[in-house]
Amino acid sequence: MKSNTSMFGSMLWNLFLVMLCRVSLLAALTFALPAGAADSPAPPPANTVTNKPDVVFVPTPQVVVDKMLEMAAIKPGDVVYDLGCGDGRIVVTAAKRYGVKGVGFDIDPQRIKDSLANVRSNKVEHLVSIQQKDIFKLDLSEATVVCLYLLPSLNVRLMPQLEKLRPGSRILSHDFDMEGAKPLQIVKIPPENGTADEDDLETHEHTIYKWVVPWEKARTAPSLP
Ligand SMILES: C[S@@+](CC[C@H](N)C(=O)[O-])C[C@H]1O[C@@H](n2cnc3c(N)ncnc32)[C@H](O)[C@@H]1O
Repeated sequence: MKSNTSMFGSMLWNLFLVMLCRVSLLAALTFALPAGAADSPAPPPANTVTNKPDVVFVPTPQVVVDKMLEMAAIKPGDVVYDLGCGDGRIVVTAAKRYGVKGVGFDIDPQRIKDSLANVRSNKVEHLVSIQQKDIFKLDLSEATVVCLYLLPSLNVRLMPQLEKLRPGSRILSHDFDMEGAKPLQIVKIPPENGTADEDDLETHEHTIYKWVVPWEKARTAPSLP
């Protein structure tokens, strides 16, 4: 039979073990979990882009890129944006040929990889940055030249953002007009082999539209009663 003194000693020891367990559990919850993690799912990282492209990737032929940049009348200090930059050829060409800064935006991670590889292989990392972003959520206030090769409806969707560009900024669109804005210049580039075929991307005639901000509103046909 145990003495009163030894029973009191073992009760104290048990109490000490229970308290130690409680303190360890509290410490584990406090340091292992970020704030709020226990009762809500973790949010995605801030810059994650989950949207799908609004238009597929088709590159602008180099001869058309060269003409778009020539029509933009690029001068030192200009900043060229390509909204939906594909493989980055427009901003890379602007940097190499005119020594100006460029930013290419695309939503597709594969296009971002292609553009970054293009920037690296042409050694223009000091002038060109490539960002994975949705073009409809961009602030365009830093741009002075904006290049587009999207779709007519997407050009129109971009108008509220494009309208806020600084006065004198140039907008160049490959093949597609922007309804409601009167182009200042339209240039046609004949197919390289001389025969235009509407269905063949290699041989169709290319058109470049140019606007300068603020653009003149295009006259629309009067609506029928
Ligand atoms: C027709 S390609 C033009 C590529 C390049 N600008 C050129 O002219 O060679 C259109 C590009 O827009 C990108 N795109 C489509 N929707 C987009 C969006 N909402 N935000 C960013 N990029 C988008 C596509 O991934 C594709 O690379």
